[in-house]
Amino acid sequence: MKTLIIYKSYQGNTEKYAKAIAENVHADVMKLSRKALRATKKYDTIIFGGWVRGGVIQGLDNFLAIYDSLEGKNIIVYSVGMSFPTKSGRADLISRNLLDLYHVRFYQFRGSFDYHKLKFPQNIMMRKSIELMLKDPSLAPESDPQALSSLLDRPLEYYDQEKVDRVVSVLHVLEREESQKETNKQ
Ligand SMILES: Cc1cc2nc3c(=O)[nH]c(=O)nc-3n(C[C@H](O)[C@H](O)[C@H](O)COP(=O)(O)O)c2cc1C
Repeated sequence: MKTLIIYKSYQGNTEKYAKAIAENVHADVMKLSRKALRATKKYDTIIFGGWVRGGVIQGLDNFLAIYDSLEGKNIIVYSVGMSFPTKSGRADLISRNLLDLYHVRFYQFRGSFDYHKLKFPQNIMMRKSIELMLKDPSLAPESDPQALSSLLDRPLEYYDQEKVDRVVSVLHVLEREESQKETNKQ
C-alpha cells in the first residue's frame, strides 16, 4: 500500500505529526501544494493534516476540492489545535469543516502553542480572541479562564503520541486489507 501524507502547518506541529506517522508506515510526506494534490493519483491511502485557526482546519478546503478524484482510496484527515480533544470539540470541528459530508476517517490531535513566536497579524488576532473569550466565557464553554490567560504568558507544549499510535495502527490494518485484496485478485 502506498501512503501519502499532505500537511499544512504554521508553527510546525502538524508537520511533526505527519513525519512521526510517516516514520512508522513508510509513507511519503509533502507540504500542501498543487504538486502534492496531483501526486495523490499515485497513492492508495491519503492523509491530510491541517492546523486549526479559529475553528477552521487550514488547507482542508483545498484538499477536499479534489475529493472526487480520490474515489476508491482510503482517506484520513487530522487536525492539530491547542484545545484539548473532547467529544463536543470533535463534533464542532466536524460540522464547522463540513467533514460529515465526506467519507473520511477523522482524528483530532493536540499541538503546542507559543504566543511569543507568532508574527503579525496572527499575534494580534490571537490576543484579541483570547481577550474576547475571557470577557464572554460562553464563546469558549470548555476553556478554563486561567489556562486561557496563561497562553499569553507561557508556551503550551503538547505532543499526542497515543493519537499517532492510533493512526499508525489504523494504517497497518488498511495495509493488511490492501494486500489481501491484491492476493484475491491473483
Ligand atoms: C491565529 C490562531 C488561531 C488559532 N485558533 C485555534 C482554534 O480555533 N482552535 C484550536 O484548537 N487551536 C487554535 N490555534 C492553535 C493552533 O492550532 C496550534 O498552535 C497548532 O499547534 C498549530 O499547528 P502548527 O504548529 O502545525 O501550525 C490557533 C493559533 C493561532 C495562531
